Amino acid sequence: MSRSAHPAGPRHADVMTEGHYSAPAADLNVLDEKVWARTVTRDADGALTLGGIAVARLAEEFGTPAYFLDESDFRARCRAWADAFGPDADVFYAGKAFLSRAVVRWLQEEGLNLDVCSGGELTTALDAGMPAERIAFHGNNKTVAEIERAVEAGVGRIVLDSFQEIVRVAHIARSHGVRQRVQIRVTVGVEAHTHEFIATAHEDQKFGIALADGQAAEAVRRTLALDSLELIGIHSHIGSQIFDMAGFEVSARRVVQLLAEVRDEHGVELPEIDLGGGLGIAYTSEDDPREPHDIAKALSDIVTRECESAKLRTPRISVEPGRAIVGPTAFTLYEVGTIKPLEGLRTYVSVDGGMSDNIRTALYDAEYSVALVSRTSEAEPMLVRVVGKHCESGDIVVKDAFLPADLAPGDLIAVPATGAYCRSMASNYNHALRPPVVAVRDGEARVIVRRETEEDLLRLDVG
Ligand code: LLP
Repeated sequence: MSRSAHPAGPRHADVMTEGHYSAPAADLNVLDEKVWARTVTRDADGALTLGGIAVARLAEEFGTPAYFLDESDFRARCRAWADAFGPDADVFYAGKAFLSRAVVRWLQEEGLNLDVCSGGELTTALDAGMPAERIAFHGNNKTVAEIERAVEAGVGRIVLDSFQEIVRVAHIARSHGVRQRVQIRVTVGVEAHTHEFIATAHEDQKFGIALADGQAAEAVRRTLALDSLELIGIHSHIGSQIFDMAGFEVSARRVVQLLAEVRDEHGVELPEIDLGGGLGIAYTSEDDPREPHDIAKALSDIVTRECESAKLRTPRISVEPGRAIVGPTAFTLYEVGTIKPLEGLRTYVSVDGGMSDNIRTALYDAEYSVALVSRTSEAEPMLVRVVGKHCESGDIVVKDAFLPADLAPGDLIAVPATGAYCRSMASNYNHALRPPVVAVRDGEARVIVRRETEEDLLRLDVG
């Protein structure tokens, strides 16, 4: 899914028909800072360190596979987003990318809000003390029980995703005697340039209410007619892992057009628009993500310009980055188990995790990079496929990459940029135990989500 489509590398190039892999870096020992968390570096012995702690120590203390997350990087990214958007906008971290109680506390301390999309995420947020008014509740099929909990907790906004939900939320709010703040999620008809499964603004999909055919205008009409709902704005999320701002611009323009129509029809200027998340990160050296201040400027320029031409007051903007905050802050550490060279083809490197800790490669054809991190090596690069230990030939973690030819069982390798949608999409396939998340800050490492145990598996199995 990264945009890289580079010429074949020097080894085995003749047999690579897919052609979607990067040529090896001039020196495989050099870590490309674009894809690694900020405090990652190599120590004098060549071992990778995170926050000053060598991976061998991390592996010894916490085991493998494990996700290691750079807390200072996470916090810095939160601040960068908050600073870029400034006091007249709101940044909601999308909890689906990765959520835990520690994360909720960091968000609070760094002044971010939180977008949740299930009862489980809402519980985690509230349990860790996130003030309810700083929570946005999303989802295309929130259950009645979830809506009740969100209303009772007093969440700052519920994002209405369907006509049924308008009525459902209104009814629940009325029965609780509250006026619930809501936004309406619209689909603006943009084809985002990303994988089909994570594009969400074209009309032929389950999310949102289409702007086309006046459906969104009708949703506004119905919402405004209900006393127990306070319509604060319009929401649009066009998809994920997007680099090109063009889709956001079209989306902003169409949402502002709807605001103008609402003003003309109802005499109401809705005060907010939410442009969703979806900003891409670097998974490989070929990806060039934008900085938050660039994104903030591009979005606010377009909204301001469109509002001026429609003679509307500029609404308060909110955004919902998930991956762009947590994605680059973590790597997954694996131990190499078996190595299977296929002469003239590639070498399969099996690690102690796999699709249960990173389903993205199998699901979206996502591209990742990988490095030998327990030592450096001067050996030739060899073309590898990093695979897991599951009973599937599609159990691929990194499809095409280069590692030194002297790689051996017991070496530690790491896959960077696994902070988003890896632990949160992890599974127990083959009764795998989901790995821990270890946060590192100022030379200290601590478990924030512990490793699953076999007792955890058996506890759920009550038959
Ligand atoms: N806001 C809404 C309403 C969303 O649905 C999402 C993601 C976000 C914000 C955050 O998007 P982000 O900035 O993290 O791209 N599992 C897929 C991604 C699915 C995203 C779903 N919604 C993946 O691994 O790429």
